[in-house]
Amino acid sequence: MTSRIPREARPTLALVGATGAVGSVMLRVLSHRADVWGEIRLVASPRSAGRTLLVRGEDTVVQPLSEEVFDGVDVALFDVPGDVAAQWAPVAADRGAVVVDNSAAFRADPDVPLVVPQVNPAQIRNRPRGIIASPTCATLTMIDALGALHHGWQLTELVAASYQAASGAGREGVERLHDELEAVAGRRDLGHQAGDVRAALSDTLGESLPFAAPLALNVVPWVGDSAGDGWTSEELGVRHEARKILGAPDLRVSATCVRVPVVTAHSVSVHATFAQPITVAEARQALVEAPSVVVLDDPEQREFPTPADIVGSDPTFVGRMRQAVDFPNTIEMFICADNLRRGAALNSVEIAELVVADLVPVLTAR
Ligand SMILES: NC(=O)c1ccc[n+]([C@@H]2O[C@H](COP(=O)([O-])OP(=O)(O)OC[C@H]3O[C@@H](n4cnc5c(N)ncnc54)[C@H](OP(=O)(O)O)[C@@H]3O)[C@@H](O)[C@H]2O)c1
Repeated sequence: MTSRIPREARPTLALVGATGAVGSVMLRVLSHRADVWGEIRLVASPRSAGRTLLVRGEDTVVQPLSEEVFDGVDVALFDVPGDVAAQWAPVAADRGAVVVDNSAAFRADPDVPLVVPQVNPAQIRNRPRGIIASPTCATLTMIDALGALHHGWQLTELVAASYQAASGAGREGVERLHDELEAVAGRRDLGHQAGDVRAALSDTLGESLPFAAPLALNVVPWVGDSAGDGWTSEELGVRHEARKILGAPDLRVSATCVRVPVVTAHSVSVHATFAQPITVAEARQALVEAPSVVVLDDPEQREFPTPADIVGSDPTFVGRMRQAVDFPNTIEMFICADNLRRGAALNSVEIAELVVADLVPVLTAR
């Protein structure tokens, strides 16, 4: 409907963080979806001001973040670190933009809805601060599938272990993983003695930041910041977000989040228990019918999702579906999704498009 409005009367979009890992995917997503936007304004830090980026086939100059950059903006997508979003999203909202924020800054705010369009789309209208939050990528990897099953059988317990890609830590994470892989390439002497990988990397690269330990030839059971009692912010975030999105405040959740040496696409091993009896066949059928979920589940033929096979795709992929042997009403699943696309950019763009659909009467009147 919006595309019938002349471009000059269509909503103006600001993309804040256009130069980052999520922002770069956002540029591609915006270029390939139905074009509902008038001007698209690209914004980043002063470091990137003046750079030219391609969106919808047009070279667009990056502007530095400022109050004035939000003048005339209808929707602002924020893909910046949490502290930057915490400071600037309210500024954009005060200047009249509906903000869709991808950071952790507002996800726990009771006055900010946490939205996944396939699960709780109506929440976009419940935005007293003018801000809508998008969940963390570990939550987004599994929530479409869980939402479809919760709808039919009522999820009561969720035990999840994530295998999260380096790009979840942004451009810096991707660079670091590539540097580490280069440093260990061909080193058949590594991986035999405690600490040998760490020593080889610190000789050539120094500390393993942004990760808590070496990532090449390793896995790291620490994603996010310390949240007390041994938990990380990512793990408690998954718990809080699953409850908020599903509207299930009593849902029992326990998550362990692990970083793995994959560039992009997160995986989650899910143990989901339901109030109602559920069979694998019923669960599979519900997921086949769910928009944005693809079932890839024929393990005898070695058909199951892996990050390397699904990266760059829009849907959530579900495989290894099994009835838990010792737990009633419980299904085990292995779920993969592109963390930059399904786990960030696409969810924000889909939220923004819902907001635009609501704005159409306002836009056509102006
Ligand atoms: N990566 C994921 O898988 C993922 C998934 C879900 C949510 N998120 C969230 O999305 C946000 C962006 O993540 P990312 O992975 O894209 O990070 P990133 O690759 O580090 O990119 C950060 C972006 O923020 C901009 N920025 C940093 N400081 C700024 C400032 N003071 N003023 C204006 N712009 C500033 C950067 O601009 P410059 O280039 O100019 O520095 C860059 O465009 C984060 O809050 C992250 O938690 C990420």
